[in-house]
Amino acid sequence: MPGVKGFISFEGIEGSGKSTQAKLLAEVLRGRRHQVLTTFEPGGTRIGQKIRTLLLEPQNHMDPITELLLYYASRAQHVREVIYPALLKNTVVITDRFTDSTVAYQGYARGLDLSIITALNDIVVPDMKPFLTFLLDMDVEEGLRRNRHAQKEDRFELENIEFHNRVRKGFLSIASEDPERIKVIDASRSTEEVSKDINKVIEELWR
Ligand code: TMP
Repeated sequence: MPGVKGFISFEGIEGSGKSTQAKLLAEVLRGRRHQVLTTFEPGGTRIGQKIRTLLLEPQNHMDPITELLLYYASRAQHVREVIYPALLKNTVVITDRFTDSTVAYQGYARGLDLSIITALNDIVVPDMKPFLTFLLDMDVEEGLRRNRHAQKEDRFELENIEFHNRVRKGFLSIASEDPERIKVIDASRSTEEVSKDINKVIEELWR
């Protein structure tokens, strides 16, 4: 299922507004009479939710390979239990994060060899790619500030600023390699302005 139509992902650094924009896009598409499911990673299933807790609890000191495998364990369950069945019923699936996050966080930021991630991806979710990805890009410090206001402090938010800058650079590098699928949106602006840009892309691509 290469570039599955109806499968959309949102990606970006902490505090970039992915969840809000995913919900807004879902409303727009529902207004056009599409069945829409919004979901997220890590999580999206009962098992995924438990894995999410393991991954994000600040007291868990985790080996990078353990971390990678847990993200893929959550993804394996999520794809088989939620995403794939919904797509088969022609439901549009909007996910807050997918494989690009693993490449950016575990690859570019954590420093795992990208070939390990590619190999794992080929085993767990072969050919399962969103047909459209919105990368909400903004300054890392501003994103973290937004999240602190929301009193979020998980294992990743506690990483230093260099880590988060590597994540951002990673995302931008992935986007430059796949500009047709990944649309980079300036997320430093208001919710309304960002949403307008996203709707414009949808308008152009999804007639
Ligand atoms: P969230 O805050 O967007 O819900 O995501 C939880 C954290 O998990 C966030 O810091 C990014 C991180 N993450 C990875 O490191 N690798 C992944 O593959 C995914 C999906 C998320």
